[in-house]
Amino acid sequence: MTSFNINDLVRDNVKKLTPYSSARDEFSGEAKVFLDANENSLGSPSLKWYNRYPDPHQLKIKEKLSQIKGVPAANIFIGNGSDECIDLLYRGFCNPGKDNVIICPPTYGMYQVSADINDVEVRKAPLLPDFQLDLVHMETLVDDFTKIIWICSPNNPTANSIHREDIEMVLNNFPGLVVIDEAYINFSRHRSFVQELSEYPNLVVLQTLSKAWGLAGLRVGMAFASEEVIGVYNKIKPPYNIGQATQDIVLKALDNVAEVNEMIQTLVAERKLLAEQLSVLPVVEHIYPSDANFLLVKVDSARKAYDFLLDKGIVVRDRSNVQLCENCLRITVGTPEENKTLVKSLGGFRP
Ligand SMILES: Cc1ncc(COP(=O)(O)O)c(C=O)c1O
Repeated sequence: MTSFNINDLVRDNVKKLTPYSSARDEFSGEAKVFLDANENSLGSPSLKWYNRYPDPHQLKIKEKLSQIKGVPAANIFIGNGSDECIDLLYRGFCNPGKDNVIICPPTYGMYQVSADINDVEVRKAPLLPDFQLDLVHMETLVDDFTKIIWICSPNNPTANSIHREDIEMVLNNFPGLVVIDEAYINFSRHRSFVQELSEYPNLVVLQTLSKAWGLAGLRVGMAFASEEVIGVYNKIKPPYNIGQATQDIVLKALDNVAEVNEMIQTLVAERKLLAEQLSVLPVVEHIYPSDANFLLVKVDSARKAYDFLLDKGIVVRDRSNVQLCENCLRITVGTPEENKTLVKSLGGFRP
């Protein structure tokens, strides 16, 4: 295989693109009077401080993230959820109707949906029965038009981490982008790949504030990658993709690393307890090991169990139609109270 070269990957129209230059891009110093961005200078009567456009590059947040993650700010992109980070990779690197990507189902649905929206072919190398990568199959799918391989670890919905050596094998041998989606990494004991950016120019690591940080409502995702890949992100992103209110809250939230770590410990302890309590219920056939904040649970008659729980006001995810997840429910670890309610209710289910 040829070696990695970002210029071979970026779409030509993106290479040629003159990006939008906002008022905040053209002037970012100190001034007394700002009349450059067509904002409303009077401000909203009750929320005056939101009359200005936010920092398009979220530099303060990146500086804090840089300290927390040990990654230079220049290697960080912040998106409107990781979903935006996913979509922008298609827009920056995949020519519609021509290029392809590889996914390893069952996995997070947006890799496929974003590909479909962008008219990019998706090639599938299903996970092996132990939910690990089928490297041999993956290799057969790669051709000159393969731009991205998506690896989700810990994987949604199977909850396991992908073997590190297998990911390294892909990183070492595939000349396109290897995206490792680490949305659930904080719930696992495995090391993140964010420290490996200097080792692998083709590596993109996705993380999010939606899971361990407990901030799904804010819509903040992060991509960590080479400066070249971050440059492509910045070139094509909507100018102000993270609003001021979100930036303000995120800046405060990032001071709470210790609290977040405690919360992670609580959820991991609850995950263990929930798995123990579910495992003795007659309806439960198997609980897969989890490195995430959810459990994949094989039951007798998933659809009926799902409906039974719904009838009691408890919503879980029925994954029984998903390859390798026959008769499986995906159950998020809730609060201790919610978990008790779930166990009690499911205990009353008779298939
Ligand atoms: C693997 C994975 N990646 C990304 C996301 C989306 O994250 P965000 O809320 O940052 O868009 C999810 C959400 O469930 C997920 O499971």
